[in-house]
Amino acid sequence: MNDKPIVRLASIKNVQQFREHLDALKLTIPCDTEVASGPGSPLLQPLECSGVKIGNRIAINPMEGWDGTQDGHPSEHTFRRWQKFGQSGGKLIWGGEAVAVTPSGRANPNQLVIAPETHADLAKLRAMLIDEHRKTMGSDDGLLIGLQLTHSGRYCRPYKHDKPEPRILYRHPILDRKLNLPADYPVLTDGEIEGIIEEFLTAARAVRELGFDFVDVKHCHGYLGHEFLSAHTREGKYGGSFENRTRFLREIVAGVRSVAPGLQIGVRVSAFDIVPFRPDPGKSVPGKLGPGIPESYEQLIPYRWGFGVDAQHPTEPDLTEPMQFLALLEDLNISLVNITAGSPYYNPHLQRPALFPPSDGYQPSEDPLISVARQLNVARHLKERFSNLIVVGTAYSYLQDFLPNVAQAVLREGWVDVVGLGRMTLTYPEILLDAAQGRALQHKRVCRTFSDCTTAPRKGLPSGCYPLDSYYKQSPMMVQLAAAKAKR
Ligand SMILES: Cc1cc2nc3c(=O)[nH]c(=O)nc-3n(C[C@H](O)[C@H](O)[C@H](O)COP(=O)(O)O)c2cc1C
Repeated sequence: MNDKPIVRLASIKNVQQFREHLDALKLTIPCDTEVASGPGSPLLQPLECSGVKIGNRIAINPMEGWDGTQDGHPSEHTFRRWQKFGQSGGKLIWGGEAVAVTPSGRANPNQLVIAPETHADLAKLRAMLIDEHRKTMGSDDGLLIGLQLTHSGRYCRPYKHDKPEPRILYRHPILDRKLNLPADYPVLTDGEIEGIIEEFLTAARAVRELGFDFVDVKHCHGYLGHEFLSAHTREGKYGGSFENRTRFLREIVAGVRSVAPGLQIGVRVSAFDIVPFRPDPGKSVPGKLGPGIPESYEQLIPYRWGFGVDAQHPTEPDLTEPMQFLALLEDLNISLVNITAGSPYYNPHLQRPALFPPSDGYQPSEDPLISVARQLNVARHLKERFSNLIVVGTAYSYLQDFLPNVAQAVLREGWVDVVGLGRMTLTYPEILLDAAQGRALQHKRVCRTFSDCTTAPRKGLPSGCYPLDSYYKQSPMMVQLAAAKAKR
């Protein structure tokens, strides 16, 4: 950690300067000087692996909007976002957004739910996306669309914005305290877990019937699937050994194969983690959060409450188990894997690197490019060892104007198979397509990581790009967001 101000990428004028900046930070991030355009563009190459075909190397990572109706249906905002997914030209739509398998498993009262009464609307979302994609690309050849299924576990907040209802798998010495859970707070029973698995299977059957190509069994960001992977201290058949901690996944996979034959399965996984962070209280002043520091963990060594975390040095990743996890995916004949990291709730700087923190975060204590480099290099490391898997990469949005140059370079050098866009999708979904088709970048539409897309939902409002997208900027939601931010 140093006290030098972070260089704003918007102030860097060209690729050469950007490269020098990466060198100054001692970061390994490949970056091409020129982005090729036309049919030879690495971004536009089709991909075929283990029977899965994807028409180009652009993926849209799941981006939820916390903007469904209270009964789990998409709203006009949701439809608009899925249109953007289609307009991106990306041939891999990884999950669309997190859709809860049951109302009580929602992370917020406006999360989409998959249930008989919402099926028709979920089908409409898909159809609208395909329509937009055809308008942009001329055809939907090679378009692969998944739906991400989730249960929010520890982060359930299903019925009221101000009423969390955590469903936890084990007692976590740091997160339980952050969530104010009393000592006798109940842990999900094995029987309750079996019920949730059934809900995943019912949902997966519907995902197939609705015409999606694959289902993403979400294992990231601190939600239930991810919490299983770190359930070292849980007793019984879903905790302890690696085999037990992956039983949830294996039971769902076996079930999906039987109730939804032919449906592909993908897994988005937080492939590494670090301890939870908080704003440095010594450096926080009213109206301004301090820089992020790790929660104190000195009394918790060996650290047994994470997945992909070094137990002796829990501010560092350890990829031993994540590699075992990818080997398991191979054994299960799952070839689609999406690499992400950490959690937006307890270490947002790692999960979604940003210059400006969300309202429940902290100021960056290091250049956000460091976290970008961490995610890129972990994906590279895993891809090197698991060449049969289709590896989708994450955390490119902070690269801003240099995103196409880096995206092309990681593809050319084989770090990942497909580059996934998250926050950039909200403001400039076709950034990679513009680059690959030789159009000038529209710099005014580039995501600058203001984090209002995270702050708004933390304040009970729909997500979206409030600073750059006039749809939000000029709406009453903007006024509400400004008022909520002023209140703190
Ligand atoms: C507003 C918002 C909504 C998100 N929704 C989801 C989601 O539904 N499922 C998921 O797996 N990740 C979700 N993410 C995480 C993103 O997919 C992605 O991992 C993260 O933003 C980092 O990638 P980026 O740098 O391209 O933004 C969301 C992120 C944001 C900011």
